[in-house]
Amino acid sequence: MDITIKKLYSKADAPMDLLLLADPSEELVNSYLDKGICYTAEIDGETVGVVLVMETKAQTMEVMNLAVKEELHNKGIGKQLLLYVIEEIKKSDIKTIEIGTGNPGVVQMLLYQKCGFRIVGIDFDFFRRTHPERIYENGIECRDMIRMRIEL
Ligand SMILES: CC(C)(COP(=O)(O)OP(=O)(O)OC[C@H]1O[C@@H](n2cnc3c(N)ncnc32)[C@H](O)[C@@H]1OP(=O)(O)O)[C@@H](O)C(=O)NCCC(=O)NCCS
Repeated sequence: MDITIKKLYSKADAPMDLLLLADPSEELVNSYLDKGICYTAEIDGETVGVVLVMETKAQTMEVMNLAVKEELHNKGIGKQLLLYVIEEIKKSDIKTIEIGTGNPGVVQMLLYQKCGFRIVGIDFDFFRRTHPERIYENGIECRDMIRMRIEL
């Protein structure tokens, strides 16, 4: 599958529908877009995936959001986007890349480990603290954040 990955230069061009697949809070997504860098994946001019990264502390970049159009899941697009953004970050002075996923995110945990991330901790009740609504995924509450990291 031929995908083209592009860096976005305007927040207005960000694919909000896709970004909300990975995080139901439009307010949080907007705050990440203000400070972060967004890349999209396109097939034949259509946006099919997005990844959003943000510097969270000195020399640390976090992948805040990664999403692929639902009907195109499991075709390697998410992995291509994540590996691309890791290579881009490696060109900078960033020393650590972080990513987090909810406790029900088994596929995400597989994907992130395939891209080199290791589990470094669990932020208990992260989602209850940061999201007013309860979030459910795979039939269970998304309550704790599994924290993962790549040391460059
Ligand atoms: C998470 C997400 C981005 C993955 O994107 P994707 O394009 O479907 O993922 P890929 O096809 O690149 O799969 C990546 C790897 O995970 C593996 N994988 C995917 N689904 C799997 C499953 N059900 N069982 C086992 N492995 C699986 C694939 O085999 C692949 O590894 P491989 O290339 O070595 O075969 C996508 O599912 C998504 O948009 N989900 C909703 C939003 C979300 O939850 N985002 C993450 C939170 S920020």
